[in-house]
Amino acid sequence: MFNLFLFARRAVVASLTAAVLCSFAHSAEKSTPVDARRLLNAANNNSEWVTYARTYDEQRFSPLKKINQDTVKNLGLAWYFDLDTNRGQEATPLIIAGSMYFTSAWSKVFAVDARTGKEKWRFDPKVAGEKGADACCDVVNRGVAAWGNSVFVGTLDGRLIALDMATGKEIWSVQTTDTTKRYTITGAPRIIRGKVLIGNGGAELGVRGYITAYDAATGKLIWRFYTVPGNPAEKFEHKPLEMAAKTWNGNWWDQGGGGTVWDSMAYDPELDLLYIGCGNGSPWNYQIRSQGKGDNLFLSSIVALKPDTGEYVWHFQTTPGESWDYTATQTIILADLKINGAARKVLLQAPKNGFFYVLDRKTGEFLSAKNFVNVSWTTGLDAKGRPTFSPESFYATEPAQVAPTPIGGHNWYPMAYSPLTQLAYIPTLEASSRYAQDPNFKTNSRGWNTGVAFSNATPNAKSVELASKSNAGAFLLAWNPVEQKEVWRIPYPRPGNGGVLTTAGNVLFQGSADGYFNAYRADTGTKLWSYIAQNAVMAAPATYELDGEQYVAVLAGLGGVAMAGGGTPPGTAVLPRSQFGRMLVFKLSGRDSLPRLAETGAKQFPNLANADASGDPSKGREHYDRVCASCHGPEAVTSTAIPDLRYSNAIISADAFKSIVIDGVRTDKGMVSFASVLKPEEVEAIRAYVVSRVAAAKTTAAP
Ligand code: HEC
Repeated sequence: MFNLFLFARRAVVASLTAAVLCSFAHSAEKSTPVDARRLLNAANNNSEWVTYARTYDEQRFSPLKKINQDTVKNLGLAWYFDLDTNRGQEATPLIIAGSMYFTSAWSKVFAVDARTGKEKWRFDPKVAGEKGADACCDVVNRGVAAWGNSVFVGTLDGRLIALDMATGKEIWSVQTTDTTKRYTITGAPRIIRGKVLIGNGGAELGVRGYITAYDAATGKLIWRFYTVPGNPAEKFEHKPLEMAAKTWNGNWWDQGGGGTVWDSMAYDPELDLLYIGCGNGSPWNYQIRSQGKGDNLFLSSIVALKPDTGEYVWHFQTTPGESWDYTATQTIILADLKINGAARKVLLQAPKNGFFYVLDRKTGEFLSAKNFVNVSWTTGLDAKGRPTFSPESFYATEPAQVAPTPIGGHNWYPMAYSPLTQLAYIPTLEASSRYAQDPNFKTNSRGWNTGVAFSNATPNAKSVELASKSNAGAFLLAWNPVEQKEVWRIPYPRPGNGGVLTTAGNVLFQGSADGYFNAYRADTGTKLWSYIAQNAVMAAPATYELDGEQYVAVLAGLGGVAMAGGGTPPGTAVLPRSQFGRMLVFKLSGRDSLPRLAETGAKQFPNLANADASGDPSKGREHYDRVCASCHGPEAVTSTAIPDLRYSNAIISADAFKSIVIDGVRTDKGMVSFASVLKPEEVEAIRAYVVSRVAAAKTTAAP
């Protein structure tokens, strides 16, 4: 069976290679429909990048090596493509038959010539600006999927849309979510045998997670798998939810439950298993969500499903009773490793909770795990991978300082794995965060609704001690998954550094939040090359070869969850940013250059002489943390496209502030009215808090 399969694969490779060799015509490539073979054969297809992470195993490894450890120093810009937004850019482009397809913020889709960047078409799904307020982590999108002659995009407002690859015209569109709930889609769809798989997000805002398979040809719903049970009084949609419901308490269904499948998937064609990563609880607060009891399946779990039917096969839960936003939606990579002398088919994941997991992907059996950052929420895992909690890290009675933070030891920034170095490369953040019970929690309240306040109350002393070991900040980590140990790391000055690509040229590419696109040796981490990208690079790069020339493509544009990551640490140089995001494409001896950045004067604080902010700043801080911080940054500091409120003239006047925060005059720009969650005096208290932050900034170093 196995050998036959491999043989068939080789035969396909041979004929494809021949086809590629014969078609060096510069523009006349005919796009043949993307089919199952093309996706199965992606590992050997060097001229294309046909699915989100290049191959179904999601390794983000390319066998290309013209750009290698020796030549990468000659890399230059081949072309760039300006976007029309300054919001976060997270997509990996697809490259199909000489064209490149990628998404930008607000779920817009672009098709350009992969050699020149010349635009072929663009598609704007016209997501309403106010939907921006439902996005926990910016109005980002991570990319399209391709099948037949179509590309597919999931939109921020929950639609799945099929577009004609040649023209960008809409073929069909389906609403995948209940529009009365605050669902969003930011993840890239995946495709298995003509079924488009798409999940959603929204577990900060009271939703119930699921993944759906749609027929690529028609948009017809084929199956849906819910990751948390609904109300047991109604019939469960599928059998595994009966098992899951036994692990929940109280009226969890009233608050959604969470478990959203907002990013990671992988597929093993030999086992015919689809793996999905499930998100955090909604609300985060376990006490409110499930009376502090039960494992709450399938939160923070990896679940294996049959892709034709959505039938459940196995699950592994990383964080039972999840309480800190510890999603298991981070990159899932499939690899074949030798463990204790035996060849094993494994699944690798480094989720937010800070452990690197190695599972048997056939059975879900736990093989090993090791923390790759300081983890204070647990005292360790048992032989089956089940954690024991450190009691100090629960915050129901006393506030707690907990590591990792809600951003996680690793977030969506794609991890890569190289079968050559046998290392996994993890964009890592080691830090801790304060968590406290939110006294103002209301079920189905509008606004960020997690049951957690990041208040200024003092966390319990033991938790502070445990979390204090988290001091490394942001770095790229090379990890040996067999030995479960760090091999090397590259520190960065800011959190939010980009996804990773690694190649057979012994090169590893990663952008950084401080505005560079970097290349390192994949085996040692030695820096080989660096480019001033004029913007943060968060997205993961793709690479492809056309007419014998290897290209590396990456999106630049700051935003995403990093926008909640606060400002720039003191003393850190941040490069000036281009006004809008861009696609940047490199090749050896590329000669293009980016336009010079316009000079921007130093930012000035508004004159607060007449601000008359008489509200209570400490009350204001509580409301700010609950409603505003997720976008405008903790402590009212941001350095992203979301305004740093300390510099806003609107804080001078109660009326101006009210018109934005209560009346919603900027709704179409993603700044909605918060009239339903904040009383006028609470808004005034927030204004007083922001004004107090200006005074604080003036007495310390310039931001
Ligand atoms: C979902 C994200 C989000 C949340 C939550 C949010 N904002 Fe905003 N806010 C924005 C965006 C985006 C803009 C920029 C709008 C524009 O371009 O005009 C903005 C702009 C503003 C401005 C205008 C700044 C200026 O001078 O340009 C003020 C004032 C403001 N927000 C206050 C608040 C307050 C107070 C809260 C909490 C009650 C809050 N925002 C919550 C996204 C958000």
